[in-house]
Amino acid sequence: MIVVLDFGSQYTHLITRRVRSLGVYAEILPFNSPVEKIKSFSPHGIILSGGPESVYQKDAPYPDSGIFSAGIPILGICYGAQLIAHVFGGKVKKAKIGEYGRARFKVLVKDKLFQNLPSEFFVWMSHGDVISEVPDSFEILGETHFSPISAFRYGYIFGVQFHPEVYHTEFGLEILKNFVFEICKSPSDWSLSNFVEEKIYEIKQLRGGILCAVSGGVDSTVMAYLLHKAKGDEADFVLVDTGLLRKNEVEKIKKNFSILGININILDASEIFLSKLKGVRDPEKKRKIIGKTFIDVFKNYAISKKGEKNIRFLAQGTLYPDVIESGVSTSGKAHVIKTHHNVGGLPEELGFELVEPFRQLYKDEVREIGKILGIPDDIIFRHPFPGPGLAVRILGEITKKKIDILREADEILEEELIRYELYNKVWQAFCVLTNSKSTGVSGDRRRYGYVVAVRIVDSVDGMTADWSRVPYEFLDEVSRKITAKIPQVSRVVYDITSKPPATIEWE
Ligand code: XMP
Repeated sequence: MIVVLDFGSQYTHLITRRVRSLGVYAEILPFNSPVEKIKSFSPHGIILSGGPESVYQKDAPYPDSGIFSAGIPILGICYGAQLIAHVFGGKVKKAKIGEYGRARFKVLVKDKLFQNLPSEFFVWMSHGDVISEVPDSFEILGETHFSPISAFRYGYIFGVQFHPEVYHTEFGLEILKNFVFEICKSPSDWSLSNFVEEKIYEIKQLRGGILCAVSGGVDSTVMAYLLHKAKGDEADFVLVDTGLLRKNEVEKIKKNFSILGININILDASEIFLSKLKGVRDPEKKRKIIGKTFIDVFKNYAISKKGEKNIRFLAQGTLYPDVIESGVSTSGKAHVIKTHHNVGGLPEELGFELVEPFRQLYKDEVREIGKILGIPDDIIFRHPFPGPGLAVRILGEITKKKIDILREADEILEEELIRYELYNKVWQAFCVLTNSKSTGVSGDRRRYGYVVAVRIVDSVDGMTADWSRVPYEFLDEVSRKITAKIPQVSRVVYDITSKPPATIEWE
């Protein structure tokens, strides 16, 4: 495997994805992980990610210096490359002009890292500092106009100023391939299939009861199936009805789980959730309250089972983007975008040990696992649905009346998506009940009702997204049906914001 040390770059996760796509397992560790911990993974190579800091700043993040003498090949990317140059006595300084975006890279030495590549190609840069000097023992392998030292080698330690992990760097994957196979000599033996087998094995070793939280979404469903394979009916599969689910959702989930041969316990906690959310308007407060209430419900369930079994573990379908956006990045430097209920929304005193087999994965990888396990497509390709449910799609205070309005609008949108054969073409689609009202007219009468926003996005992993260019006729149909069938709605708008700068959900 390859260890990726995270110095806070927004692209760190892309490095692991690219390496895994080569059939080599990669895992992200914090930048300051002790070398002994790194060695315990027996990595074939270490990649130092980019990061927002400057190596010459006082509190710049540094790795354990032991990594440089551990005999493991290293590739530093951007900040990672600057760090290597700096540590070995080179010079890094603020560039007169930062280099952002496309740059023409010239290979000066046909080293193994650039094996089978043309002598010039375009790379993607994103840096304000430049390496101005490297020690004599370093060999300069490549340059761009603004960065005369864009790639270097010192024995088995390499650095590149550009980002080979981003799609826009030509031959970026080839460079990573050369590093992983030619330099690290790593075998290509990782696949999601053996990841699944490993996880099943690991779960089998757990001693103690497991409560598996399911939401009906793809992540927790695939996880539940995996857990069921490992533990059978020994595990408790629990669906909490928060009162914030979509229309008929509990019935749909029941049906899907019976197809999968898994028994689920449905805990109706809708009254509790709605009373705790009463009067709460702030989105982050909502998320925290929901996270805590989930845990309270799980704890009460575990207590109710005390005589029978000791529930020690809580299994959740947490994914890597949930972790990143909650600001729990491995670098400790990422900002909180929103506290995903099953990560940042959890109370400190949990009372369970967490089992999160997909914590390092992305949704497309989880869907792939679902396929490997033989889960039917209509379950695997359901649109994502956030744990806090409709609470983060109702702006302002949540009331039963608002939930009912949103459920109706949501049902109409889903029906039309299916009718127009768009459901499987988009990543996610939903309605948002805004906190604004607007004037309308229907049947010669004034209608003063809510504004419903329709959000439909295309994405690969939920980390970035663009609004879907769905046909106007479809939007027209959705708008007509929502305003015709729901008298409390006077206006429908379409959200045309990408992520970033927006997020997918409105709260
Ligand atoms: P955002 O709104 O962060 O959403 O751009 C990215 C993806 O994650 C889903 N999402 C959540 N999923 N718990 C979840 O399980 C949460 O708290 C949560 N918040 C957002 C969202 O629906 C989208 O697919």
